[in-house]
Amino acid sequence: MLRHALEEQGHTVVEAVDQPSAVQQLQQARPAVVLTDLKLPDGDGFGVLRAAKELDPELPVVVMTAYGSIQDAVTAMKEGAMDFLAKPVDPDHLLLLVERAIAQRRMAIDNVLLKQELAERRGAPRIVGEDPKLRQVSQQLHRAAGTDTTVLLEGESGTGKELFARALHALSSRNDGPFVAINCAAIPETLLETELFGHEKGAFTGAAARKPGRFELAHRGTLFLDEIGDLPLPLQAKILRALEEKRFERVGGTQSLHVDVRIVAATNRGLKAAVAARQFREDLFFRLSVFPIDIPPLRERPGDIATLARHFMDKFSRDMNKKVHFAPAALEELQTYPWPGNVRELQNCIERAVILCDGDTIQPRHLSLTFKVGPGAVAAPVSPWDQIDLSGTLLEATRRVTSEVERRKVEQAMQGAAGNRQRAAEALQISYKALTSKLREFGISEV
Ligand SMILES: Nc1ncnc2c1ncn2[C@@H]1O[C@H](COP(=O)(O)OP(=O)(O)OP(=O)(O)O)[C@@H](O)[C@H]1O
Ligand SMILES: [Mg+2]
Repeated sequence: MLRHALEEQGHTVVEAVDQPSAVQQLQQARPAVVLTDLKLPDGDGFGVLRAAKELDPELPVVVMTAYGSIQDAVTAMKEGAMDFLAKPVDPDHLLLLVERAIAQRRMAIDNVLLKQELAERRGAPRIVGEDPKLRQVSQQLHRAAGTDTTVLLEGESGTGKELFARALHALSSRNDGPFVAINCAAIPETLLETELFGHEKGAFTGAAARKPGRFELAHRGTLFLDEIGDLPLPLQAKILRALEEKRFERVGGTQSLHVDVRIVAATNRGLKAAVAARQFREDLFFRLSVFPIDIPPLRERPGDIATLARHFMDKFSRDMNKKVHFAPAALEELQTYPWPGNVRELQNCIERAVILCDGDTIQPRHLSLTFKVGPGAVAAPVSPWDQIDLSGTLLEATRRVTSEVERRKVEQAMQGAAGNRQRAAEALQISYKALTSKLREFGISEV
């Protein structure tokens, strides 16, 4: 009778006579809905229910019980049945339940798909590379992701600071919230404050409506302050207050707003040096560098070059519908090139090579690297002087450099002494007290 009623509505019915054959049919027929009596000749409906849930937790199961055994129905519901029908079964009621079960299942599947899509979209971006130095950075990133502290990403241009900032957000418990980025170097100083903090209606000529700032937009999420070293001094003070008090006012507003944001800042130049040159507030520097992560330049993690090159080659050849591979000579040239523009330069180089490559092999000539390497040419060594910021007065430039040297030396001594301050102080031939004050000055935490 049940089969008849269901087939009349266009459903396909697969029958099973007892628990073992039901379990077998479940696996073979993969039904959309399971309808089972609780009493069966071999096994029982609970066994069918469990098998169905094991196969697919979203599979709706409707149980049928004899009139009066309501207790069994309750137990079945507790074990995950979607609903129950009292016997004798009313066909209309049955059809209603089956329709509802199918709709519910469709929703559950849509939900899973949507969640997957969302996770992919806002999922952790892939960080490619296996050089021990990069792995160390990844470990730090994971550790930072588990906390809510401010993170400072330091690294040369193109090393992946933004990528790491996004990964940090995706790995953190705030990943349901927004990731909001602002590039402090790209926005004119006059607009930066309203971009960061928003403004009230009528705050200035042209402020026709209230506009929220990035701090507000990032509520419950992560705010990425890119190129923080370029933040003008007056705004540094305002950011500091927003960080310390977690509150701020919109431009032209008097009401103090509270936000819950995690700050990730990035800089490609020595912030410490900018502090020494009095271009960056020391208090803000300390506030930001609670958890500093230093992303080493590509030339210092040669293990990543070939991996990244292959990764980008796969990506671009897929995009361009080509099938190419590297000639050994090309790989070798990539390996010895100093990559002043780091991963971004490598990525651009491979994209160009895949475009230029006419056959299936990328040759050195397709790479068109600026510093030619190979026979007859000498690789241009990267001079440390190219990295040094000589701007400002003589005093400023010297201070910047000496302070950087001091920091590195102190760090090295602390590492050499496995974190033992007394021994590090002896190695440096300075007093214990002087060392302690330097550690504090440079924000070096225990090794
Ligand atoms: N480890 C990596 N794996 C995959 N892609 C990477 C990696 N590192 C960097 N990239 C890619 O290289 C490019 C440059 O990275 P990103 O923009 O994060 O660098 P950046 O440090 O912010 O540079 P800049 O200082 O110039 O702003 C991006 O396209 C990024 O996806
Ligand atoms: Mg960047």
